[in-house]
Amino acid sequence: MSSKRLLVTAALPYSNGRLHVGHIAGCYLPADIFVRFERMRGKEVRYVCGSDDHGVAIKITAEKEGKSPAEVAQYYSDHQKEDFAGMGIHFDVYGSTSRTKYHFARSQEMFMSLFEKGYFEKKVSEQFYDESKSAFLPDRYVKGTCGYCDTPDQNGDQCENCGKVLDVSTLKDAVSVLSGNKATVRETTHWFIDLSKSQGAVEEWLKESEVRDHTRKYVSGLLSSGLVQRSMTRDLDWGIPVPLDDPEAAGKVLYVWFDAPIGYISNTEELCEERDGDSEKFTEWWKSEDCGIYHFIGEDNTIFHCVIWIAMLSAEGTYQLPKGVFVNQYLNIQFPDKEAEKISKSRGNAVWIGDYLEKGGSPDSLRYYLTAIAPERARSVFKPDDLVQRNNTDLANVIGNFVNRILSFTKKHVGDTPPQIEESKLEEVDIRFRALRTQTHRTVTELLEGAQTKGALEAIMEYARACNKYVDDMAPWATRKTDMARTELTLAVAIEAISFLGVILQPFLPFTSEKLLRMLSLSADKLSWDDALQGLALGVTLGDTEILFSKMELSDWISEKEQDKES
Ligand code: MF3
Ligand code: ZN
Repeated sequence: MSSKRLLVTAALPYSNGRLHVGHIAGCYLPADIFVRFERMRGKEVRYVCGSDDHGVAIKITAEKEGKSPAEVAQYYSDHQKEDFAGMGIHFDVYGSTSRTKYHFARSQEMFMSLFEKGYFEKKVSEQFYDESKSAFLPDRYVKGTCGYCDTPDQNGDQCENCGKVLDVSTLKDAVSVLSGNKATVRETTHWFIDLSKSQGAVEEWLKESEVRDHTRKYVSGLLSSGLVQRSMTRDLDWGIPVPLDDPEAAGKVLYVWFDAPIGYISNTEELCEERDGDSEKFTEWWKSEDCGIYHFIGEDNTIFHCVIWIAMLSAEGTYQLPKGVFVNQYLNIQFPDKEAEKISKSRGNAVWIGDYLEKGGSPDSLRYYLTAIAPERARSVFKPDDLVQRNNTDLANVIGNFVNRILSFTKKHVGDTPPQIEESKLEEVDIRFRALRTQTHRTVTELLEGAQTKGALEAIMEYARACNKYVDDMAPWATRKTDMARTELTLAVAIEAISFLGVILQPFLPFTSEKLLRMLSLSADKLSWDDALQGLALGVTLGDTEILFSKMELSDWISEKEQDKES
């Protein structure tokens, strides 16, 4: 990342439910790791998020729960914020598209700017309608079978299986979600953005920006079939009013996917007001070349960020385009003795962040596992028993044991001040082992620059395994009886390795890193990324030794009954 400053965003979650492991793995955790890493490298970074309050899904939840959409949004937004904090994911601002002061105006301004530049066409089109409720049925208010791939039970906006956009002509056997009745079709007026006008701009952006191969392939595919018109307004009473002085605009709101990404901007305005006392400073992030903008999202958000959002920004013309969009694929779930399946609230097969944390699940263990299986290149599967297993082997046995046995042994036989490393005494085996540190640092840095958190963590784990091998081979517990000088050298080299792990694990396992560094009397927030290589020169003194990771058992945090629970 060559920019001096970075604005990092994670998709604004819909505020109509609690967060599960799929949400965290999709974008919030990888973005958090990336942000922590870039901060440690001295970049000025702002991490922006907030809730996405509009759209049909929230209206439906509100109707189900007998509350207003505003109440539902507030409730879930507050809980989601807690879940994020519990996982060590801290945003610089967490706004909301229905409450952030700047959001309505910014969204309406964007709409008007595109309108004045001729990007919209007002058209009468056909829309599903519920006769018994006298209401149009946009997006998720209808369900039916995908006309392209025949997958049943699809929402009226997009097929989850083939990703195609669905409408009255391509969603078959449509049923109203409101009443369960068969949906009819009626005519209504809407404003369509003509994406074909932005075809060139999107192509250009795709060429220059940082995206993963699967994203490039998917967006290229959309581009090669030619961008079409898409309605940016809805017949709904929850959302941002269409700001046109036109009787036909009455009672209509902006499409949720039009206003939601503008939330990245309005939340930045709010942040600048809080932080700098001046909301106008948002231009330093959105309109200044010094700043690189990076979006982290899940795969179902790709078209909205990599096509429609790029089209909107380039049509408006005064904002800079994102330098990168990092997309993770879906995370499926598989309980012991069951098939892998899609995580779904209605099927009751999710692992909820709030539940996990309430039961005393360690946030770092979950951060570790979700990064180890991160669906960066392909969909992957969350297996609760695998989480337990990886915690107990990788974290407790490999990292935890290495750190604890070396530190306790040193305290006992040498004292709290670790011996210095006498370069002249180093043997081939020490030199080779120490070189791994520099190598690992370089690999992890390169991978994290491209937000490849999974590969980066694997490289650290490989290093941790080498640490265990080194002390097993050098056996300080045996050499102590014959050669104390050699023993001290081994311990010094091993403690240097521990300080390296403490620093380099910080973006991934912030709670553990803090604890580990405290055992060396170092303070995590004062250390930079390159300090990982400083070793004992950091001024290490051994403090109290604490257990880094406890062993987990599946029954500690997930019971059979819950596995079967219907939501
Ligand atoms: N609310 C959307 C979802 O959960 C994501 C919106 S991202 C935004 O899929 F940037 F557009 F806000
Ligand atoms: Zn389909």
